Amino acid sequence: MGLAVALVAAAGCRAPDTAPDARTVAAVDRATPSARSAPLPRHAAALGLDADEVAAIVSHGPWPPPPRPDPTNRASGDPAAIELGRRLFDDPRPSADGRRRCSDCHRAELAFADGRARPPGADGLPLDRNAQGLLDARLQHWFGWDGGADSLWAFILRPLADPREIGTDGPRLAALFDADPALACLRRAAFGDPRPADDALRVQVAKALAAYIETLESPRTPFDALRDALAVPADADAATAAAAEAAALAYPADALRGLRRFVGDARCGLCHVGPAFSHGEFHDAGRPFMAAPGRPDPGRHGGIAALRADPFNRLGRWSDAPSPDAAVRTRHIEPSHRNFGEFRVPGLRALAFTAPYGHDGSMKTLDDVIAHYSDVDLERLHADGDAVLRPLRLEAGARAELRAFLSTLSAPRPVASPRDPAAAPAVAACMARPGT
Ligand code: HEC
Ligand code: HEC
Repeated sequence: MGLAVALVAAAGCRAPDTAPDARTVAAVDRATPSARSAPLPRHAAALGLDADEVAAIVSHGPWPPPPRPDPTNRASGDPAAIELGRRLFDDPRPSADGRRRCSDCHRAELAFADGRARPPGADGLPLDRNAQGLLDARLQHWFGWDGGADSLWAFILRPLADPREIGTDGPRLAALFDADPALACLRRAAFGDPRPADDALRVQVAKALAAYIETLESPRTPFDALRDALAVPADADAATAAAAEAAALAYPADALRGLRRFVGDARCGLCHVGPAFSHGEFHDAGRPFMAAPGRPDPGRHGGIAALRADPFNRLGRWSDAPSPDAAVRTRHIEPSHRNFGEFRVPGLRALAFTAPYGHDGSMKTLDDVIAHYSDVDLERLHADGDAVLRPLRLEAGARAELRAFLSTLSAPRPVASPRDPAAAPAVAACMARPGT
């Protein structure tokens, strides 16, 4: 049993909701003998890192992960669908009052978060949760803080329909495509004729928006340069080894101390796993969960109920996956009392742009987050819950080092430059002669 697996077991960390998931895979990956017994590059010793630390650090990459089309969405990766989604994301015309856009709450310059704790809905009252940044969403397998959807497009049907967000419907979308030849052309290129109505059209729009959001990726960061330098084999040629050594030694010393704590005794890496720093499953991190006085946010408990009742989930007829394997996680999901008040473990990339933090935006700064983990209130945690967490009682210096490490997970700009879909022939044709 490897270190990570042993720690998970010893700490009483629950098994994930379903069959093999990213957490198990990452834990096993991290502990494979080949990763641990391979000789380390020379600069690992220069930085004072042992084999376990190097293996843990290397498990948070490489970045970016390779593209992996969503089998439930036939428009995934399709340039015309991506361009259609990109336009609709910023278009107020589908909304009930003609003024609301996805980009109101998901702003590109804020890594597609919106800077508010809980953005207001159309009625001016705050929504129940913080708007997630949408970068790297393609790497998740449950969507929303409560995982109430099992695909990006099934999640998106909700803000599309919700009168507090966009509030659109089939007839309104049909009228938009009938009135706008460029949008109609892109839709046709992505999904074919004839244009459907109602549910089928809403699903096409959601799948196009999902295809666009799948392209939103956070850029490489200083952490990735260190990680790749540590993944270089000890017997690499002299030029590769020298470049890796220079990259490793350029990583800030205070951030390195924070990183060692993160993968070490602070045990952050047990939940913030893998290249995105999230295993995509759910935990009670000891945060309060009241949506309003007297109204708790049930978190994952409500998410599982919503997912099972959702006609657009992976088990339903709207999924394009040819094989039932794509629905394995959804088929095996079981509600359990302990899911109450659990939320999806957020990824930790691009945090420099996505404050405030937590499912309800109740932590204004990274210092607030670190203070939470330092003083976490064990009374708040479920009795059968996350024994992984315990108050870390960190001194000011240790907190600053953790913060310095987290800041190396952000690049100077929020979003990697995506490929230009307009370069694709189908998109160019729609731009030139949209009526055809
Ligand atoms: C009024 C603000 C608002 C608008 C408008 C809005 N969103 Fe969101 N969005 C949110 C909030 C709040 C959440 C978190 C909801 C939750 O987890 O329950 C969210 C979550 C998401 C997620 C989940 C991301 C993840 O990592 O699981 C996606 C995808 C998303 N929104 C896409 C969209 C799209 C596409 C539109 C337009 C059709 C849209 N949103 C419009 C506020 C908004
Ligand atoms: C038991 C699993 C677990 C462990 C261990 C853990 N986290 Fe978290 N983390 C979560 C969950 C769940 C949330 C969301 C909490 C909420 O809002 O209810 C979260 C939220 C965060 C956030 C806010 C991110 C955002 O986008 O809102 C940061 C930053 C963070 N954790 C860093 C850390 C650090 C640093 C450590 C180690 C000191 C750590 N986490 C340990 C599960 C964990």
